[in-house]
Amino acid sequence: MSTTTSTLTSDFAKHVAKGLLTPLAHLSSQYIYDDQGSKLFQQIMGLESYYLTECEFEILQASAGMLRKKFSDNGQKYFELIELGAGDGYKTKLLLKDFTENSTDFNYRPVDISDDILEELESDLTKQFPNLEVESLHASYMEALDSFQATPDIRRVILFLGSNIGNFSFDAANEFVGKIADRMHTGDYFVLGIDLRKNPRTILAAYDDDLGVTAKFNLNLLTRINRELGGNFDLNAWAFYPLYNAETGEVRSYLYPKTDQHVSIPQLGVERTFVVGEVIHTEVSRKYSKKELGILGKTHGLERVDMLLDRRGYFADVIYQKK
Ligand code: AVJ
Repeated sequence: MSTTTSTLTSDFAKHVAKGLLTPLAHLSSQYIYDDQGSKLFQQIMGLESYYLTECEFEILQASAGMLRKKFSDNGQKYFELIELGAGDGYKTKLLLKDFTENSTDFNYRPVDISDDILEELESDLTKQFPNLEVESLHASYMEALDSFQATPDIRRVILFLGSNIGNFSFDAANEFVGKIADRMHTGDYFVLGIDLRKNPRTILAAYDDDLGVTAKFNLNLLTRINRELGGNFDLNAWAFYPLYNAETGEVRSYLYPKTDQHVSIPQLGVERTFVVGEVIHTEVSRKYSKKELGILGKTHGLERVDMLLDRRGYFADVIYQKK
């Protein structure tokens, strides 16, 4: 790929230059999701150990009818279903199926940062739900939120599923919920999927699969840097290390060099040797206690109208309504 000025000054380039040159190196997980990264995440969702997806699937399957009645005021009201980070829509299709089968008056607006996955989703939805009105938006969460027009007469239902909020620290999560709440009108709904604290071994296993898919997913950051920014990471020399801290509720993921590695990204002026023992921090996947869940959103004029759990109590979908 040719390097243009815009590549060098892109958010990704700036982030990489800064993140690799700070003493405790860091690369944000949001940059894992190019088209390849999104495909790897789809593979993760199919892993036996990654319980999150099936838990939320179970919740939405059991609650689709109830949610339809809530969102539409028993079929009385048109609404706009906006999904932040829609991905392949695997779980949301459960809702779309129930809603369309019951002739609910709504449209669906999936938002995602991967173009490929959105295109796939759209063509998929056209086949499966020919009468569904779909208008997708290729954007980051913030861009999407900012592009939402304030129309108090149209009810909005915003979905943020899959424990995507886990990538934020507690304070950042609270702030994010606040930003969403600011863009909602009285009566609008916000559905937030969150992974709960549980047996620490169950949690760690979800991020440490034997097939190495999660490793590949994290290593995709380095692949992307090599391909898009002209980096020289030796993919065979780096490995993946996740840990779960049951005190903070955080899964923290790292990449580490198996032998000393000199990393060079000439276009960004990055030159650094990573010696054995150093790491690059890549992801936080925060888990919540029910108490912490209760605090989230409290200060933003959102009323928690429901909290749905799977049978094992592993995962929660919290339903908020704007007061
Ligand atoms: C998509 C952010 C919810 O943190 O569980 C899966 C991403 N990382 N395995 C998560 C992920 C490693 C996932 N989220």
